[in-house]
Amino acid sequence: MRQRPLVVVANRLPVDDSVAPDGACEWRRSPGGLLSAMHPLLRYSPATWVGWAGGTGPAPALPDVDGVRLHTVPLTPEDFRDHYEGFANATLWPLYHDAVEQPEHHRRWWEAYQRVNRRFAEAAAEVSEPGGVVWVQDYHLQLVPALLRELRPDLRIGFFLHVPFPPPELFMQLPRRAELLRGILGADLVGFQRAHAAHNFAQLVAKVIGVPATDRQVEVDGRTVRVGAFPVSIDTAEMAALAARPDVVARADQLRRDLGDPDHVILSVDRMDYTKGIEHRLKAYSELIASGHVKVRDTVLVQVAVPSRERVGQYQILRDRVEREVGRINGEFGRVGEPAIHYLTQPFDRAELAALYRMADVMAVTPLRDGMNLVAKEYVAARVDDSGALLLSEFAGAAAELSEAYLVNPHDLEGLKQGLLAALHADPADAASRMRAMREHLHRYDIRSWAGSYLTALDESGSLLHEMITD
Ligand code: ADP
Ligand code: G6P
Repeated sequence: MRQRPLVVVANRLPVDDSVAPDGACEWRRSPGGLLSAMHPLLRYSPATWVGWAGGTGPAPALPDVDGVRLHTVPLTPEDFRDHYEGFANATLWPLYHDAVEQPEHHRRWWEAYQRVNRRFAEAAAEVSEPGGVVWVQDYHLQLVPALLRELRPDLRIGFFLHVPFPPPELFMQLPRRAELLRGILGADLVGFQRAHAAHNFAQLVAKVIGVPATDRQVEVDGRTVRVGAFPVSIDTAEMAALAARPDVVARADQLRRDLGDPDHVILSVDRMDYTKGIEHRLKAYSELIASGHVKVRDTVLVQVAVPSRERVGQYQILRDRVEREVGRINGEFGRVGEPAIHYLTQPFDRAELAALYRMADVMAVTPLRDGMNLVAKEYVAARVDDSGALLLSEFAGAAAELSEAYLVNPHDLEGLKQGLLAALHADPADAASRMRAMREHLHRYDIRSWAGSYLTALDESGSLLHEMITD
């Protein structure tokens, strides 16, 4: 039996648009959970990836990469502004993350969202083989499942949301809420990170669309749409192997020496995003220094915050505030050659990230809301000797699985400080048993098991899709 190639539809392609003049194309690994999750999968499966190449000119024709066919969807400057920066990242993103920043509503943004979703659906329809399987990703493309079903009723269509799905009282704010739900309901299987997201979705569908809906399935237009939680993961073995590589171990040792061989190194790695709780964390850290609980010479904080969505106003404001606060803390508490915070805004390759993870005694992952947070999982996977402590927000999807982490409520400043101190001064045997339990979990529930369980649920016919992921 021939394998049916999978078509992945995601806003971003997994490659940079700055392709070399000789046509050579490198995997992008741009910072962001969706690409980190989907990227390792494609090595195992023949696929076509439909997505945007990052610019606003005509769509570049990209060569295949590692057997993956890349199909580019162009965005005009207006699409970029109103679809990507506007409806996706200034309406949906804040709304889906507990409205920690105020979502904006503009009719022009909605028109762009519809227009761009239609373009993605047409592209997916064009490249899909008869009876093929299409897997639509994330909040940028929630109308694609229904649009694609209209164009190609023969396809099996999956939709997975990488970010949280909000409770009804927030989602109901959306002026075009019914259209968005109907868009998602074009899929055969709707996947979320967590069970309560599936519950929120079912409640909304029942209320807004008025059709029978449970947390497991929806009956609509004579079809059954299945619903479920599929917590996304990482390539655990790959990260563990990287972290054990001699050059990465040596680099981690070097990094530690460069920091002045402190007793404790705390690390945070985030996209510069207001959902990540960077300001709350900096405040907690600075109060611990001010109160003498943390001494700058003994303890250093390395904060990696790679800029993201840089033209969106809320992101610009955040970056300014974070940089002002880092400057204030270093000015107030640092000494020549001994800053309190080492602040880096650069993207790093996987080996450098693994070295950073290996170097850090405490990984502080304290988002105000996060669909999953793969950084937390990457840190655990990199701790191959079971050392280290993970400080993790209760509001990250990862907290549902990594319950042995030091869990904190990032809104509770005192709790955050206590959690950080507990992680810094953890009993090594207790910390090792926590880390071991989390590592074992991630070896069992890795990215292949995630894709395997999703695609098996999507492709009920039991075709080779499952095998190509799990073999
Ligand atoms: P989000 O999807 O919101 O960005 P995640 O924690 O789920 O959050 O995923 C972030 C991904 O981006 C991780 O795989 C992480 O390794 C990667 N990443 C974060 N910062 C950097 C950086 N400075 N350089 C390279 N990759 C990064
Ligand atoms: C999150 C989203 C992804 C997105 C990524 C990076 O992981 O769920 O869909 O790709 O952030 O954001 P960006 O705006 O750069 O694509």
